Amino acid sequence: MDSAHPIEYQVRLDYCHHQLLLLIQPMSTFAAYRIHQDEYQHRAGLEELTLEELSPGDVVVRVEWSTVNFKDALAATGRSKILRKSPLVGGVDAAGRVESSADPRLSVGTPVVVTGSGLGEVRDGGFASYLRVPADSVVALPANLSTRDAMIAGTAGFTAALALERMEHNGQTPALGPILISGASGGVGSFAVALCAQRGYEVSALSLKPFSIDYLRDLGASKVILREGLEMGRRALETARFGGAIDTLGGDYLGWMIRSVHANGNVAAIGMATSTELNTSVMPFILRGVNLLGINSVDVPRAVREHIWQRLADSMTRAQLDSICAGEIGLADLPEFCTEMLAGHVMGRALVRVS
Ligand SMILES: NC(=O)c1ccc[n+]([C@@H]2O[C@H](COP(=O)([O-])OP(=O)(O)OC[C@H]3O[C@@H](n4cnc5c(N)ncnc54)[C@H](OP(=O)(O)O)[C@@H]3O)[C@@H](O)[C@H]2O)c1
Repeated sequence: MDSAHPIEYQVRLDYCHHQLLLLIQPMSTFAAYRIHQDEYQHRAGLEELTLEELSPGDVVVRVEWSTVNFKDALAATGRSKILRKSPLVGGVDAAGRVESSADPRLSVGTPVVVTGSGLGEVRDGGFASYLRVPADSVVALPANLSTRDAMIAGTAGFTAALALERMEHNGQTPALGPILISGASGGVGSFAVALCAQRGYEVSALSLKPFSIDYLRDLGASKVILREGLEMGRRALETARFGGAIDTLGGDYLGWMIRSVHANGNVAAIGMATSTELNTSVMPFILRGVNLLGINSVDVPRAVREHIWQRLADSMTRAQLDSICAGEIGLADLPEFCTEMLAGHVMGRALVRVS
């Protein structure tokens, strides 16, 4: 909080877990990137808010870092209707320290991460100095992951790790063959490449950007397939080239992956950067036992969240995190950055410096 916004505190009493709690919370105003959207208008920009104006919750987090996901860019620009309530502070992710807590599992000062859980969709999100949320959506960070590192990952890294977890739970192993990863230079794609490579999978990265080849190889891809001129065929079953796939594009790309995966391979459907459609026959499922796994990073139980964050912390190297980090922006830079992101021009992940 800068000196232009001196902190005042409000004291209130709360009853939680059979205890009467004394909560001390900041009262001053702080900057927030807020989105107003209804059927007639969309506008977004910096506003001054007080804590009392935020969505309710029993934990207040002093946000240090946020990040920009594809969904944030859709919400901030109004390109798709992401908000199910208006107005809302944008940002589906936040990392920072517990400022006050009515939950005994989270003590003041604990470094925490909050992703998904309705942030930026049905409740105020991470593009503000403070976040107020239910305790069940808050995960204490593993000791080997800083708040900054957590936001290099954010929902993108979390989702990539969740996809790999689900695939392995369903029998995926490096022996089944290479993993194809689409939208590879984006946030989810970059983490999927790094995590799969770290785990011993051969990675084929699919990208539109010729200039991303070195970046993807450094992250661990053994092959980079450029989308320009890619021949996807039209047969119900294409030659099986991949042991599994992680898709962020949807549409024809997802259909092609399903037709091109070896017997018993898994295809994780994560995104729809090019299309929400999926045209497929049942042949890959019936004749090859291919599994299509839907990945939802928003509604994940706390125990699973904790496990996935630990997996991320244990798997990602310093060099990989630094390589994926595309730089830092401020809240005021969001409109321009989000437009670039939706055009598919961004490589890796941008951090949003909040406090
Ligand atoms: N299921 C979930 O819970 C979940 C969680 C996170 C994200 N997602 C979804 O996953 C997708 C990727 O998210 P992200 O945060 O990784 O986004 P991102 O960082 O913007 O990456 C998207 C990548 O897709 C590729 N792309 C291809 N065509 C594009 C187009 N027309 N517009 C934009 N990008 C295009 C680009 O990579 P190349 O140039 O390398 O092809 C781009 O970098 C989005 O659809 C997002 O909504 C879903």
